[in-house]
Amino acid sequence: MIYLDNAATTLKKPHCVAEAVMKALCTMGNSSRGTHDSALQSARSVFSARMALAELFRAPGPEQVVFTQNATEALNIALNGLFSKGDHVITTDLEHNSVLRPLYRLEDTGEITLSVVPADKRGCVDYGDFERLIRPETRAIVCTHASNLTGNVLDLERIGGIARAHGLLFVVDASQTAGVYPIDMERMGVSVLCFTGHKGLLGPQGTGGLCIARGVDIRPFKVGGSGVQSYSRTHPAELPTRLEAGTLNGHGIAGLGAGVAFLLEQGVEAVHELEIGLARRFYEGVKDIPGVTVYGDFSHWNRTAVVALNIGAYDSGEVSDVLAEEYKIATRPGAHCAPRMHRALGTTEQGAVRFSFSLFNTPEEVEIAIHAVKELAKCD
Ligand SMILES: Cc1ncc(COP(=O)(O)O)c(C=O)c1O
Repeated sequence: MIYLDNAATTLKKPHCVAEAVMKALCTMGNSSRGTHDSALQSARSVFSARMALAELFRAPGPEQVVFTQNATEALNIALNGLFSKGDHVITTDLEHNSVLRPLYRLEDTGEITLSVVPADKRGCVDYGDFERLIRPETRAIVCTHASNLTGNVLDLERIGGIARAHGLLFVVDASQTAGVYPIDMERMGVSVLCFTGHKGLLGPQGTGGLCIARGVDIRPFKVGGSGVQSYSRTHPAELPTRLEAGTLNGHGIAGLGAGVAFLLEQGVEAVHELEIGLARRFYEGVKDIPGVTVYGDFSHWNRTAVVALNIGAYDSGEVSDVLAEEYKIATRPGAHCAPRMHRALGTTEQGAVRFSFSLFNTPEEVEIAIHAVKELAKCD
């Protein structure tokens, strides 16, 4: 199979990730729960994953890295733990439902008011809109770093500058960029960075987390066992324990730590260049095929390695099925949990077929995918 669904989850991982999980399964006790060798080994593994993530994202320190099950949980912790009644929040049309639904729920219960920066037909925003939507009660800008549908990247430094100038919190969903696009929390002025472990970070599913700037206070979503301060009625107030209750996914975090160590060794810029090279070749190969429509802004390559397209009026689900069954190419059709983005692109009915590349794809695989799109376009 040619796996081109890396924006959903990376299937091919470096060997060191599987090895780290296997070793953890065979040797690790419970992190922060005891002082015997296996518990200490687990605690060391978790700490070294925090260190690696802090280095990767230029987060303020390992204790500011909190582990969760995925980006969705991280976003729910951040969005439900930061705002108070009457706060106004600004988000964008580019968002995934893991940002939109928590915000809609807060809006529907009367907790916050919400404004959305619109995207145009290419999925681009006007950065002036962020400034224009700010009101006296605005508390935060919440946005994705990159659209999971078009691959368009938002300029975080620019948005972070606006947030900083107005004293706003800046919450970022880095699900599509963590590990594949350079992120510098400090330079970009990010207050909370939410990430998932199983995509560009090359870790196992069931891992993710948030990196929190110093001084940003998030109310805990869950409290319970922490392994420390057990006689206290309240959960420990210090990060990272403040936002981590219950046994961590130590086995998964060991794999995530190995994935991040691999990326630090390769260099995120090098990974990005490699992936973009593949996406660019694919784009060049399909963009002029009669009947093919490609979505997104391809006027520059400051983007992720995602190319979404449609072939004539073909349903995107049918195209993806034929690609899987007849060409053994894995892609993702449909709505991609990005309803507002599809509305902006005009693809709500048809959806789109998303091809997403990883550093483990090859130029030969890209040529086969281009050939498949050409053949399918002829049938249309
Ligand atoms: C932009 C974006 N945000 C959030 C998520 C949610 O990630 P997870 O399912 O790992 O929580 C995804 C996953 O598809 C995504 O692409």
